[in-house]
Amino acid sequence: MEKILIISSTRNSNFDMSKKIKNFFDGLAPTVAELICLEDFSLPLFTPTLEMQFKNNEDFPEDIGKIKDFLLSSKAIVWCSPEYNGGISPILTNAIAWISRATTDWKEAFINKKMLICSSSGGNGKNFVEGLRLQLKYLGSEVMEDCIIQTKKQSISENEFNKKLSQFYKNLPS
Ligand SMILES: Cc1cc2nc3c(=O)[nH]c(=O)nc-3n(C[C@H](O)[C@H](O)[C@H](O)COP(=O)(O)O)c2cc1C
Repeated sequence: MEKILIISSTRNSNFDMSKKIKNFFDGLAPTVAELICLEDFSLPLFTPTLEMQFKNNEDFPEDIGKIKDFLLSSKAIVWCSPEYNGGISPILTNAIAWISRATTDWKEAFINKKMLICSSSGGNGKNFVEGLRLQLKYLGSEVMEDCIIQTKKQSISENEFNKKLSQFYKNLPS
C-alpha cells in the first residue's frame, strides 16, 4: 500500500515532532504512515568522484538504495528538519543528492508527490522552509503552501498542528 512517509533529519526535536505527526496519521486508518530518520542511514558525502567509483565497481552502498525505495514507495512526504545557517542542513541536502542520482530519472522520487515541510528550529526556520520549498518544486513536487514551524521560543498549539496536518491530508489523492 502507498504510504505517507515522514522524514526526520535528526534524532532530536525534529524526530519528536515527526513522532507526533506519525501519531496523527496513525489515527486515520487505513492510512499508513512510516517514519524514518536520516541519521539512521549511512550515506557518504556525495561527490562526483565517489559516485563514479561506485559506478565503476558496480557497488553502491546499500543505504542509498534503501532510502531511495522509501521515497519511491510513498505517495506523500512530510519533511521535518532544522534550519542550519539560514538554510537546509547538510544531512538533508546530501540525502536528496544521492536519491536524485540513484533513480532512473533524477526527479522520479519527488515528481507529482504531495509534500509538507515542517521544522523545529532555534530561530524562525523560515529560510529553511523557503529553501526546501524551492528545491522540492524544482524536483516536481507539489508543496503545501502552509508549513509547520516550532521554535525554541514558540511552540505550536495542538489545535493548529492538527489543523495543518488535516489540511495536508485532505488534499492527498485517495
Ligand atoms: C550548524 C548549526 C546551524 C544552525 N543555524 C540555525 C539557523 O540558521 N537558524 C535557526 O533557526 N537555527 C539554527 N540552528 C539551531 C537549530 O535549528 C536547532 O538547534 C534545532 O532545534 C536543531 O534541530 P534538532 O533539535 O532536531 O537537532 C543551527 C544549529 C546548528 C547545529
